[in-house]
Amino acid sequence: MKKPVITGIGAYVPKGILTNKDLEKIVDTSDEWITTRTGIQERRIAAENETASDLALEAAKIALKRAGVRARNLDYIIFATATPDMLFPSAACILQHKLGAKHAACFDIAAGCSGFIYALSIAEKFIVSGDANNILVVGAEVLSRIVDWSDRSTCVLFGDGAGAVVISAMDGDRGIISTMLRSDGSYGDLLKLPGGGSLYPASHETVDNKLHYIKMQGNEVFKKAVKAMEDIAAEILEKNGFQGKDVDLLVPHQANLRIISAVQKRVNIPENRTYINIHKYGNTSAASIPIALYEASERGFLRERDLVLCVAFGAGFTWGAGLIRW
Ligand code: ACO
Repeated sequence: MKKPVITGIGAYVPKGILTNKDLEKIVDTSDEWITTRTGIQERRIAAENETASDLALEAAKIALKRAGVRARNLDYIIFATATPDMLFPSAACILQHKLGAKHAACFDIAAGCSGFIYALSIAEKFIVSGDANNILVVGAEVLSRIVDWSDRSTCVLFGDGAGAVVISAMDGDRGIISTMLRSDGSYGDLLKLPGGGSLYPASHETVDNKLHYIKMQGNEVFKKAVKAMEDIAAEILEKNGFQGKDVDLLVPHQANLRIISAVQKRVNIPENRTYINIHKYGNTSAASIPIALYEASERGFLRERDLVLCVAFGAGFTWGAGLIRW
């Protein structure tokens, strides 16, 4: 049976930087509050003409080049995002056209910040079943477009960016070992973007009521995120016969440094074996894990055969984990 192996990885973040000091001029906040409560120091903001598929295109080109795979040889494009260019066509189809990936079947995944793990898990199954040889998995977001820049409780948290991996069917024992996905829709109200769908279609009223922005009860989300991420990290290790000491690199979703610390403690993985870049990018939702994986690999934190643990939590609620033999 062929293994799903990450053969190429890429990331792209927009050039524009918004620092905590800049935010002090926009809302009633402070660099000190943001840094101590979240770990975030700055975030990237897309240019006016940049969309999620534009950021994804740059990340995908790097990933394809590293993998040595041509776009026309892709069997699937799976695009995880909460900020697609538009409701339809899917961001995956738009990206397909930009890449010239004529033979790929394309679809988006809506699982908030867990989207990349969800997409990874689907790609894993397509490869293991023998249905695909090469899959492009993308996580890309332009969250700056759905943030209420007058709401200090959310606007300081999010940033824009994209990450992409090529997953190929390979012989050997490297690759995705296991993925686990969980959801609990009963918590949907705690983190949502209510406007623009079939419930509240776009109207003057939805715009006046700011329904096209992220609404989050941060404190409640925080508590659930900690517990869910801790539990699933422990569960995936145990299920696969590993312990924290076996993990070479923990690459968690970068939403809050305090959530990451809680996960580290629970599964007993020290800081020097955890990849953290939240200070530079904030929460880039579905893009955060592939951006972190790319940076870790570029900076020499990832060597062949390392055991990598990825864990995420997001809107839905959704959460998930992936174990990879790099
Ligand atoms: N600057 C200054 N003060 C602030 C700010 C700000 N930017 N934001 C909130 N405050 C104030 C609040 O008004 C409150 O003041 P009060 O005590 O006078 O009422 C105080 O700070 C504490 O607010 P809390 O919300 O309780 O702060 P908390 O410590 O919980 O931190 C945070 C807030 C950072 C949002 C945290 O709850 C968090 O990280 N939540 C999880 C986010 C997450 O993981 N989301 C999931 C993924 S996102 C996705 O899927 C799209």
